[in-house]
Amino acid sequence: MSNRKTIIAGNWKMNKTPKEAEALLGDVLNVAKGAACEVVVCTPYVDLPCACAVAKGSNVNVGAQNLHFKASGAYTGEISAAMLQELGVGYVIIGHSERREYFAETDATVALKIGAALAAGLTPILCVGESLEQREQGIMGEHIRTQIKIALADVAAADMGKVVVAYEPIWAIGTGKTATSEQAQEVCKLIRDTLAELYDDATAQSVSILYGGSMNAKNAAELLAQPDIDGGLIGGASLKAEDFGKIIAAAK
Ligand code: 13P
Repeated sequence: MSNRKTIIAGNWKMNKTPKEAEALLGDVLNVAKGAACEVVVCTPYVDLPCACAVAKGSNVNVGAQNLHFKASGAYTGEISAAMLQELGVGYVIIGHSERREYFAETDATVALKIGAALAAGLTPILCVGESLEQREQGIMGEHIRTQIKIALADVAAADMGKVVVAYEPIWAIGTGKTATSEQAQEVCKLIRDTLAELYDDATAQSVSILYGGSMNAKNAAELLAQPDIDGGLIGGASLKAEDFGKIIAAAK
């Protein structure tokens, strides 16, 4: 048995105004009471001050959905790691497929962002995953290994305990089409094997690997029962406190 953390993280994406966020987070705090796992909610930037204030002193952690890798400067519209850290944000999603697809993020910028997050004491949730086309072409494994290797190229083994990896097959995000527990386990194991190759077995065993992609109140328990799946990164179902609560309850 490993002692790695089970983490249930919600990614609200571009949903909820600050007022709406305050209400939803209040409900999340209720359903998360006494949770046996680490609970995280990743809100839009403008919701973060309120979310950090509401979650203060509770067992719910607040995360951002992105950051910029530079410390400061002429980068209009961007947010630095220090800005997040000062608010009390603990986690940050990095390299989500929507950022890679719509905002031209590359493995190289993802690597820089991981470094910036770690330097500021934030826990990065590194997202990787293949498209349906890559899966069908048989290059899924190669693609995911490349994403992992480049993203973590500058991360020392000693820092890997502070990195969370999320496997999110692009074809399963927001589609209602979940990877089967076997498919999700296969890739999460591939990620762990890649970490063992890059670092060592003990390091690989210490990293929490999450599954994301249409995880919901009904399918969570089966996915979370897989040996290499240590939690979930949840989009749609994290916007309904009751459903999110059921997923938290499924994480033992
Ligand atoms: P859905 O749960 O809505 O499929 O989103 C998954 C995701 O992208 C989480 O980051």
